[in-house]
Amino acid sequence: MFENMLFEVQSISDARGTIYIVEQGQQLPFDVKRCYFIKELSSQPRGFHAHKTLRQLAVLVQGSCDFIMDDGSTKNNITLNSPKQALLIDTFVWHEMHNFSEDCILMVLASDVYLEEDYIRNYDEFLITVKQG
Ligand code: TYD
Repeated sequence: MFENMLFEVQSISDARGTIYIVEQGQQLPFDVKRCYFIKELSSQPRGFHAHKTLRQLAVLVQGSCDFIMDDGSTKNNITLNSPKQALLIDTFVWHEMHNFSEDCILMVLASDVYLEEDYIRNYDEFLITVKQG
């Protein structure tokens, strides 16, 4: 079910370099209210949560990392290793990020501002919530 969550980032190259484009209605199925990026990553995994209402698009600016995407019944391992790849992290998807390359930079476009109450950080609570529908 997660294959259709991978989007191709448009890129245009010329002698000056390459521009990568993520645009509303193309790769982005929501309005963006927040952007953040993570870098200087250690070997420790991140994520380990799901969101109740937040939708996010993760864009790999540089390097590589693995995502575990889990909807409560299916787990998928997705490797991002190109800035031409963006991954939609939809609501109620437990996600973990592993195996960051040393140079990894991951930019995330989010549909809302930061709200801790939108997080489900406990896996058992996540499973109960998705099974309740
Ligand atoms: P968290 O979302 O748990 O990180 P990750 O999913 O990468 O493991 O966020 C780490 C900390 O940063 C946590 O205390 C919440 C805080 N935070 C903000 O204050 N604002 C933000 O926009 C984000 C993404 C995190």
